[in-house]
Amino acid sequence: MIKKIFITGASSGLGWALAKGYDSENNILGLVGRNKENLLKLQKQLNCLSQVLVADVAKPTSMRIAANTFKKKYGSPDIVIANAGVSSGTLASKKEDLEIIHKIFQINFHGVLNTFNPFMDDLLKSKQGQLVAIASVAGIRGLPGAGAYSASKSALINYMESIRVELKKFNIHVTTISPGYIKTPMTKINTYPMPFLIDAEQAATKIIHIIDKKKSHAILPWQMSIISKIMHILPNYLWDFLAKNGPKKKRNIL
Ligand SMILES: NC(=O)c1ccc[n+]([C@@H]2O[C@H](COP(=O)([O-])OP(=O)(O)OC[C@H]3O[C@@H](n4cnc5c(N)ncnc54)[C@H](OP(=O)(O)O)[C@@H]3O)[C@@H](O)[C@H]2O)c1
Repeated sequence: MIKKIFITGASSGLGWALAKGYDSENNILGLVGRNKENLLKLQKQLNCLSQVLVADVAKPTSMRIAANTFKKKYGSPDIVIANAGVSSGTLASKKEDLEIIHKIFQINFHGVLNTFNPFMDDLLKSKQGQLVAIASVAGIRGLPGAGAYSASKSALINYMESIRVELKKFNIHVTTISPGYIKTPMTKINTYPMPFLIDAEQAATKIIHIIDKKKSHAILPWQMSIISKIMHILPNYLWDFLAKNGPKKKRNIL
C-alpha cells in the first residue's frame, strides 16, 4: 500500500536521514525546509516520488501553503513528521537572549502546531493517520544553559500527550520521539562529550520502526531511555547538584 509521508526539516540531519529511510517505491514524500538547494539535493538521491516544499514552520501561512501544495498533488498524508527544530544555548541572566528564546519556541513548539494544523480537517474526516513530533531527552528536565530548548521540547512532549488522548477517538495516532544525542549539524558544534551518540541513519531506522509500531512516546537509544527515567524521578536537590556542572550549549548560534 502506498504511504504518503510529510517530513519537516528534511534538508538536514535527522529529517534527511528519515527521508532516505522512507525511500521505497511504496512511499511518496513531502520534503519541507527553508533550504531549497539542500532539499533538491536530497530529492535527486531518492528513488521514490517526492515533492520539495520550501516553507518556514514558524509561519502558519507558509505551512498552510506547503500542506495544500502537497495535498493538491498527492492527497492528505498518512504520516506527518514534525521534525524541524533548532537549538542554541540561552541564559536567563542575559537580557539579550529573550529574542532567541522566542525564536526557539516559534520553531520547536509553534512550528509543530503549524505543521499539523493544515491536515487536521482531513485527518478527522478520514478517521486515520499519524502525527509524529521529534522532541528530545532535553525536554525531560530543565537543562541549565539551554532553558529555551529544554522548555520548548518539554512543552512539546506534554502537548503531544494531550492531543494523543484527544485524537484517539478519531483513530488518529500520535507519536512522540525523544532522542538523545544524534550525529547531525545540530550537535557537530558541541565541544563536550555526548554519551550514547548515534548516527542519524541509525536514529532514523529506529524512529521509522517506532512510528510503524504506533508507539505513544519513545526515547532513544535505550541507554538514554533508562537515564531519562532516572532524571525524571530525581528529587530537585539531587538534580540541581548534578545539573549545575553539566555541559552548556553554545549561545548565539541561530
Ligand atoms: N541532533 C540531536 O542530537 C537531537 C537530539 C534530540 C532531538 N533532536 C531534534 O531532532 C530534530 C532534527 O534536528 P537535527 O539534529 O537533524 O538538526 P539539523 O541537522 O540542524 O536540522 C534541523 C532541520 O530543521 C529545519 N528547520 C529549522 N528551522 C526551520 C524553520 N523555521 N522552518 C522549516 N524548517 C526548519 C532545518 O531546515 P532549513 O534550515 O532548511 O530550514 C533542518 O532541516 C530537531 O527537532 C531537534 O531538536 C536532535
